[in-house]
Amino acid sequence: LFDKITAAPGDPILGLGEAFKADPRSEKVNLGIGVYKDANGRSPVLPSVKAAEARILADEDSKNYLGIDGLAAYNLATQKLLFGADNPLIASGRLQTAQSLGGSGALRIAAEFVKRQTAAQNVWISAPSWPNHNAIFQAVDMNICDYRYYDKTTHGLDWDGMLEDLAQARAGDVVLLHGCCHNPTGIDPTPEQWRQLAQMSAEKGWLPLFDVAYQGFGNGLEEDAYGLRVFAENHAELLVASSYSKNFGLYNERVGAFTLLAADAGTAQRVFTQIKAIIRTLYSNPAAHGSAIVAAILQDDALKAQWQGELDEMRERIKAMRRQMADLLKEYGAKQDFEFIVQQNGMFSFSGLSPEQVDRLKDEFAVYAVRSGRINVAGITADNIRYLCESIVKVL
Ligand code: LMR
Repeated sequence: LFDKITAAPGDPILGLGEAFKADPRSEKVNLGIGVYKDANGRSPVLPSVKAAEARILADEDSKNYLGIDGLAAYNLATQKLLFGADNPLIASGRLQTAQSLGGSGALRIAAEFVKRQTAAQNVWISAPSWPNHNAIFQAVDMNICDYRYYDKTTHGLDWDGMLEDLAQARAGDVVLLHGCCHNPTGIDPTPEQWRQLAQMSAEKGWLPLFDVAYQGFGNGLEEDAYGLRVFAENHAELLVASSYSKNFGLYNERVGAFTLLAADAGTAQRVFTQIKAIIRTLYSNPAAHGSAIVAAILQDDALKAQWQGELDEMRERIKAMRRQMADLLKEYGAKQDFEFIVQQNGMFSFSGLSPEQVDRLKDEFAVYAVRSGRINVAGITADNIRYLCESIVKVL
C-alpha cells in the first residue's frame, strides 16, 4: 500500500535544526529556528516559569482532562493580554477563546473553522510570510493569495504594494496579519498604517486573522498589541491565533490560543460550539501543564511583574545584538548599509542574503539560517557575533 508514497520535502525551518544537530563542526552557529538564547547561548527555563511550576507541582491533585477549550483562567488571561486588561470587549462576551497547541494549533483551528463554517475561499498572506501559514491553509484547500509586503530596495514595508494587492481582497476573504514582529521580515506597519488598514478592512468586509506569536518582543506587551486592538475597535468579527512559545519560553509545552470576536455575545457563544466541535475531532482537548504555568503567572501580580522583567531583558538583549551586528558588518568591510537590521522588530532579521549566500554560510562556515535570508537575531551572542559577521562579509 505504501509503495507509491514519495518523500515529503524537509521543513524549511524545523529541518534546519536536524541538519544543525548532525553537523560535527565545533564553531557551528544555529540562527534558524526562532528560539531565544541568552548571552551564554542557552535557552533556559525562565525563573518566573520555574516558580510557577513549583507551585503547580505542590498544588496539583488530579490529572483529569481539561475541557475541550482548555483552562478557563488561561483563556481569560489571554484575552486580557491581547486586548488590554480593561477592554470592555472582555466583559461584553463578544470574545471566546480556546487554549490551543501552540500558535500553529490555533492557526489550524482557524483554518478548519473558515473552511467548514464560512463561505471564504481566499486567504491573503503576506509575501514573504512564515512558511507554515501557506501550508496550513493549503491543508484545508483554501486558495492562497499573496500580498506584497517587503520592499527589497528600502528593506522596509512595501506599503503601496500592500494596499494595491489588498484592494483586490473581497468581502469575506480572510486577511492574515502578523500582529507584531512580522516573521520573517521584522517589519511592522506604523500605528498610522494600522489605523488605515483597519479602516480599509472594515469598509471592505474582510475577515482579519491576526497571528500574534511575538507579543512583547517588539516594543512591549501593550505596544505590540496596537494593530489588533485598533482592528477590534471597528470590526464586528475577527480571529486571533496567539502563542506563548516565545514570550514565556514555553516552546515544547505547546501553549497557544484561538480567539474569536463576534458581533454579540450570543453569536460568539453559538459560533464557539463549532470551534469546540473542530477541536474535538483534531485532538479532543489540550494538555494542562503549559497553560497552568501561564495562568499562574498572569494571575499573580508578583509573578507577572517578574515575568515582564524577564521578557524586557530578552527584548533588550536582541536589540543590543542588532546594534552590534550592524556595527560589526560595517567594521568588517561590508559595502552594503546594514543599518536596517536595527530598525526591525522581534527575533528575526531579514538580512537580504540570497539563498545561495545562505547555502555558502552553512557549507563553508557552519552558520545556519533560513534560505529566505532570515536570521534569528535571538541566537546571536558575544561568543559568536564576530565569527558570524566575518562569515557574512565573506559570502556577500
Ligand atoms: C520560527 O519561525 O522559527 C518559529 O515560529 C518556529 C516554527 O515553528 O517555525
